[in-house]
Amino acid sequence: MIDPFGRRISYLRVSVTDRCDLRCVYCMAEDMTFLPKAQILTLEELDRLCGAFIGLGVERIRLTGGEPLVRRDVMRLVRSLGERIGAQGKQGGGLRELTLTTNGTQLTKHAEGLYAAGVRRINVSLDSLDPGRFKALTRWGDIEKTLDGIFAAKAAGLAVKINAVAMKGVNEDEYDRLIAWCGEHGFDLTLIETMPLGEISEDRTDQYLPLSLVRRRLRETWTLEETDYATGGPARYMVVKETGRRLGFITPMTHNFCESCNRVRLTCTGTLYMCLGQEDAADLRAVLRDPSVDEEGLRAAIEAAIARKPKGHDFVIDRRHNRPAVGRHMSVTGG
Ligand code: GTP
Ligand code: 5AD
Ligand code: SF4
Repeated sequence: MIDPFGRRISYLRVSVTDRCDLRCVYCMAEDMTFLPKAQILTLEELDRLCGAFIGLGVERIRLTGGEPLVRRDVMRLVRSLGERIGAQGKQGGGLRELTLTTNGTQLTKHAEGLYAAGVRRINVSLDSLDPGRFKALTRWGDIEKTLDGIFAAKAAGLAVKINAVAMKGVNEDEYDRLIAWCGEHGFDLTLIETMPLGEISEDRTDQYLPLSLVRRRLRETWTLEETDYATGGPARYMVVKETGRRLGFITPMTHNFCESCNRVRLTCTGTLYMCLGQEDAADLRAVLRDPSVDEEGLRAAIEAAIARKPKGHDFVIDRRHNRPAVGRHMSVTGG
């Protein structure tokens, strides 16, 4: 699948649920209303849609949420997608990698199952190593549960990348500690600029911290070396010489990476967002549930959506009204 700007779409992010057991302050409001169950695709429907995308050239699938591991029986979907790894797609290729972005709270239960299903690397959100601060950031999370999950994943053989959203005055004194801790345990780390998605109770303009500034500060303590490493994702990676681990920077606000975008996002209701930072979407659930539409029709609907993929996002923080440019929350599209 090639979009109107010549970009090959080979990466599908699937938000399997909009629900989460935490409420990270930058991601959700405290009193979120979640989608009614009737609107949500069954695991079989999600699997069928993923199959259609793979047939069209998707090589990597990342399951996200909300929190993907709080969806009941989600491991059934993981196993079924895992079985597709290595199988040929209709346009060649086929699924090469199945990954997951999680908050870690359910990993003690699922880490071994994930590995057995064919998952080899996961990303875990951890914005602070301080228990009190972690609790405040997630509104009620217990850091021990997340840390236990992270170590269960490591023990199961999964490569772990830690994601930390950079927030001014909130966790900006912790990046050195996070780098050292990740180095000690063999994890890569990615720092992420806060993106203005969805109404939250905090003031994002106050919290926004440009990573260009963070990188300059980190260089006073760490030797950051260039590397060719790239996942096909938006992170620009460096290697921390002192720890030997990778440090990624995701900078949608200061350094836009849309020109090399390879991805689209499917929500648990079957809505396909062609860009994280735009509202335009295609309703694949209606197509999927229309008995007169066969596999070819489904593929045609996906291709028609890809033909509408916009050139890029226009994230702006509306400073006067502190309103996000995009009204839906990150938990809807899974980042
Ligand atoms: P890889 O698949 O390893 O590249 O992982 P990743 O770092 O892209 O995935 P992850 O789910 O861990 O997301 C980390 C951050 O990147 C989240 O805050 C996502 O919202 C953000 N992100 C991922 N893809 C895009 C994108 O296309 N545009 C923007 N603006 N942000 C993205
Ligand atoms: N801006 C940047 N990153 C965010 N995440 C959630 N909401 C936001 C936001 N508004 C991150 C989570 C998780 C990843 C999928 O997205 O911390 O690591
Ligand atoms: Fe849940 Fe992840 Fe959003 Fe935090 S960032 S509330 S863990 S979906």
